[in-house]
Amino acid sequence: MSILKVARLGHPVLRQITATLSLQQLQSGEIQKFIDDMVETMKEYDGVGLAADQVHESKQIAVLEVADNPRYPEKPKIPLCVLVNPKIAPLTDETEDDWEGCLSIPDLRGQVPRYKSIRVQALDREGKELDFVAHDFHARVIQHEWDHLNGKVYLDRMRDLSTLAFLTEFARYWTHS
Ligand code: NI
Repeated sequence: MSILKVARLGHPVLRQITATLSLQQLQSGEIQKFIDDMVETMKEYDGVGLAADQVHESKQIAVLEVADNPRYPEKPKIPLCVLVNPKIAPLTDETEDDWEGCLSIPDLRGQVPRYKSIRVQALDREGKELDFVAHDFHARVIQHEWDHLNGKVYLDRMRDLSTLAFLTEFARYWTHS
C-alpha cells in the first residue's frame, strides 16, 4: 500500500465533478489497490474521511472511518466504510451547525450547517448495494465527502466565514474543557 499525495485547495481536481465507476472498473485490481491506498492515506493524516479527488483521482469513491482520532477526539466511532457512486437524500429539513476541517484545507476549522439525518445509497468496495440511514456526525462526514465528489468543499457550505479559525485559535477561543 502507498500513502497518496493530498490535493490542496486551489488544485482544479477538487472543483471537478467526479466520474461514476462501472462494476467492472470497481472490481479491477487497480481500483481495489487504489481504495486500499485511500484508506491508508486517510489514516496516515488522521482524516475521518477522504474522497478520491482529494488524491487526484476524479472518481466517485469516498472512504470514512472514525476510530481513536486525535483530530476529532470527542466524536462517536464510525466503522471503516467505502462508498462508491453514492447518492444522498435528507430525511428531514433539520440541520445542525458543527465544526469541520478538511485535509485539503490544512490548519483551518469552520462551522458548517448539515442535515442531521440522511439516506445513503451507494455501492461498497465489492459492488454490493448499500442503503442505510446516517445521523449526526456520521451524516455530516458523508455529506462532506459527497460534496468533494461533486466539486465542493466545506467553505462553500458555511453560512458565512465568521467562524473560520486556525487550529491554534480554534483550540484557544472556540473549545472549552
Ligand atoms: Ni474534506
